[in-house]
Amino acid sequence: MSEARTLPGFREFYPEDRAVIGHIFEVWRSACRRHGFREWEPPVLEPLELFTEKSGEEIVRQLFNFEDKGGRKVSLRPEMTPSLARMVGARANGMPKPIRWFAIGENYRYEKPQKGRLRAFYQLNADLLGEAGPSADAEIIALCAECLLGFGLTQSDFRIRISDRTLWFRYLAALGVSEDRAGQVLAVVDKFERGTPDELTKAMTAALAGVPVDPADVLRGSRKFAAAHSFDELTRLASGDEAMQSRLVEWRHLLDALKAMGLSECVTVDLTIVRGLAYYTGFVFEAFETGGEARALAGGGRYDALVARLGGPDLPAVGFGMGDVTLRDLLELRGRLPAYVDGPDFYALILGENARAAALEDVAALRRAGFRVEYNLRDGKFGKLAQAAEAAGAKYGVIYGGEEVARGVAKVRSFVDRREGVVPRADIVPALRAVLEEGIEAVIP
Ligand code: HAM
Repeated sequence: MSEARTLPGFREFYPEDRAVIGHIFEVWRSACRRHGFREWEPPVLEPLELFTEKSGEEIVRQLFNFEDKGGRKVSLRPEMTPSLARMVGARANGMPKPIRWFAIGENYRYEKPQKGRLRAFYQLNADLLGEAGPSADAEIIALCAECLLGFGLTQSDFRIRISDRTLWFRYLAALGVSEDRAGQVLAVVDKFERGTPDELTKAMTAALAGVPVDPADVLRGSRKFAAAHSFDELTRLASGDEAMQSRLVEWRHLLDALKAMGLSECVTVDLTIVRGLAYYTGFVFEAFETGGEARALAGGGRYDALVARLGGPDLPAVGFGMGDVTLRDLLELRGRLPAYVDGPDFYALILGENARAAALEDVAALRRAGFRVEYNLRDGKFGKLAQAAEAAGAKYGVIYGGEEVARGVAKVRSFVDRREGVVPRADIVPALRAVLEEGIEAVIP
């Protein structure tokens, strides 16, 4: 491979691409702030063991890890949740609860690069800590939905599939599978959509080695359970099982809260979602696009034991991560990305060195007033400068010739329809503000 190329799975962002990412971050940040979340940020490089012990097998295989020059085993972050759990754990006792935090940053996973999956991708993380009840899960799922609706996507563009590891554990217990093996069974359930019957039977047999149950029964039972796609079906499957029924009270609470927030159409019950990461304990969910390749946009769930496992207090937690890659594809497909506009508000055309000092004075005043202004660094003829201004994306030019400067004025020109007006330089800031708000008419007598 040529050294001049980027590494596989890494992107370079030219300004027009970076503008798209900037837009995505803005929508995410706005949704999080509207929900009362505060922004935080973890380090990019962490001790390797933070992830080998906490993230689960799949992520460990994908780590970008190495030994640093001090002989430490380190890894780029593949996700932010273990760092969050450590940071919150270290200060949790003095923090008002619940804690609502969000972060936006790049993560790194050594995956096979393909459509929707890269080795470096941005992710929004939103997490709520300190509340064990289902109102916290509802709040997090609602925020996940709002982060997608904020782009102008509609309820028909995506669906958040909600599942529950607690309910799975109780169901499997009734089939004779204890909690210490249930995780392995759920890893098989995770493969239901991809695996052949043969592969699934083998995997289930391996998962239940030494357990006095028939793997075929557990496989059949799990398939039946995974096929439940509504609260009513769950209720039927739970009939006669008190442990499951008491859990369904929490489901009712969760679904009612989402309904009250007008989000019923955005969510669905789907027990095939079990989540690959090791730390999830209760409700789990994933957001998928509904059309096309139905790829995952976001994933999350409850992880009540992680903060304590990283040395903090017992602190219930729930959160999600949303990536930029599949989201951007979906926004493009649905025409939900704003047109790329990155030009200056004004371009000052300085015609002759005699006009330069006066023009620079105005340019500086306009910039300090918050406008985005460019100007020609070198002297040039009007036609050339007007071309440069339009190429920069400016809608308006402000023209400084020797004659204008002598009269204490500047000309303002619209590059859209070529109309011109004149403004006294003494009023340049309010006059140009009016031009931006009302158009060139504001300065045409
Ligand atoms: P995750 O399911 O591994 O969860 O990732 C969440 C989202 O990040 C995915 O749905 C996808 O949009 C995006 N993503 C993951 N890997 C890639 C990749 N290689 N390329 C592009 N996008 C990717 C977590 O990371 C959890 N830490 C989320 C969480 C936060 N749970 C609780 N709090």
